[in-house]
Amino acid sequence: MNFPIDLFRKERTPFYYYDKSLLRQTLDSINKSLPNSSYKVHYAMKANANSHLLEVIRQAGLGVDAVSGGEIQAALDAGFDARKIVFAGVGKSDEEIELALGAGIGNFNVESEPELEVISEIASRMGVVANIALRVNPNIDAHTHHYITTGLAENKFGINLELLDHVVDKCRELPGVELVGLHFHIGSQITDNAPFALLCERINALQAEFESKGVTFKSINVGGGLGIDYENPDANPVPDFKGYFDAFAANLKLRPGQELHFELGRSVVAQCGSLITKVLYVKNGTSKRFAIVDAGMTDLIRPALYQAYHKIENLTGTGAKAKYDVVGPICESSDVFQENAELTEVSRGDLLALRSAGAYGEIMASRYNLRRLPGSLVND
Ligand code: LLP
Repeated sequence: MNFPIDLFRKERTPFYYYDKSLLRQTLDSINKSLPNSSYKVHYAMKANANSHLLEVIRQAGLGVDAVSGGEIQAALDAGFDARKIVFAGVGKSDEEIELALGAGIGNFNVESEPELEVISEIASRMGVVANIALRVNPNIDAHTHHYITTGLAENKFGINLELLDHVVDKCRELPGVELVGLHFHIGSQITDNAPFALLCERINALQAEFESKGVTFKSINVGGGLGIDYENPDANPVPDFKGYFDAFAANLKLRPGQELHFELGRSVVAQCGSLITKVLYVKNGTSKRFAIVDAGMTDLIRPALYQAYHKIENLTGTGAKAKYDVVGPICESSDVFQENAELTEVSRGDLLALRSAGAYGEIMASRYNLRRLPGSLVND
C-alpha cells in the first residue's frame, strides 16, 4: 500500500488511516462475486462504525447487521434503509427492541425463548409484528481462536438444536412475531471454506426436517466469518469473496425465492485500515531492543486480547533491517504489538503502520489510562 507520509506527518498520532479506494475495490468485488440476486450482504457494523466508511458501504448497496441500539442508530444516521437492518445479540434491552421496532428494521436475530417472548410483547404493545430469524447453534468447529469461535455447543450464542422445535412452535403461538428465517454464525477469521460447507450441510438437513413438518423459511442467514490475510496484506488486499460465495452456491440447497443473507464484517474493512503510530523511544535491553510507540493496546487491542498478528512496517526509516519488540506505553505487560518484529532500523520520530487494522481496531479502542481515543484519517 502507498501511504501518504507527508499527510501523516501533519496528523497527531496515533490515528487510524483508511484507504477508501481499497474499501471500494473490496465492495466491488463482493458485488461482482454474488452468484445471484437472492444473496444479500449485511455489513457487520461491529467491525468498524467510522461514518466515512459507513457511507461508502451504504453506497455499495449493503445492508447492516447491528448488535446494539447504538449501531441501529448509526445505521439510520448513515442513511441505510431500515428494512435492510438486522438486529442480533444475546442481550437486547427493551429500549433497544423498541428502537428497532419503531424504525421498522428488517428482522431480529433471536437467540432465546425469553427474548422471543419479550419482543412479541413489546411489538404487540406497539401494534406491529416483528420479523424473526431464529439463531441456531449448529455445533460446528470453525478452527479459529477460542475467543472468536461462536458455533460450538457450549457457548452462549444461539438456540440449541434440541430446543429449536419448541421455539419454532412458540413463534406460531405468539401474536407479535412472525418467523421468517434461520440464522447461523460459526465464528470469525475463518480462512478455509470447509467449515462453511459443513454449515451448509447442517442447514440442508434442518430445512428438510422442518419442511416435513410444514415449516418453511423466507430467508437463511449464514452470518459472517470470512477471514483475511494478516500476513500478506499487500499480496491479498481483497479476500476471495468468489470462493466464499461459491462454497454456499455449491453446497446449500436454497428453496425457490428464498434469500440467503450474509453478515460480513472483517472481510469488508480489515485491509483498508492501518494504525499509524510514532516511535517515542528506542530502548536497548540486555538481549532485546524495544521500539516504544505512542499507540497502545487501548488503540488496538487485538494483539493483547487474541494474540493477533498485525504486520508492522516502518514507513519512514531508511537503514538496514533489525529486530524489535514493538510495545506501547500502557502499564500492562500485555501491551505488546509484536515481539521480534523485523523492521527497517527504527529511530525516535519514525512512523510505523500496523496493517490490516480496519476491523475491530478503532471500534474497540478504550480510554484506559485516561488516554485520548485515536483519531482517523480517511483518504480517497
Ligand atoms: N455475525 C455475527 C452473529 C457475529 O457474531 C459476527 C462477529 C459477525 C457476524 C461478523 O463476523 P466477521 O465477518 O467480522 O468475522 N473482535 C474479534 C472478532 C469478534 C467477532 C464477533 N462476531 C477480533 O478482533 O478478531
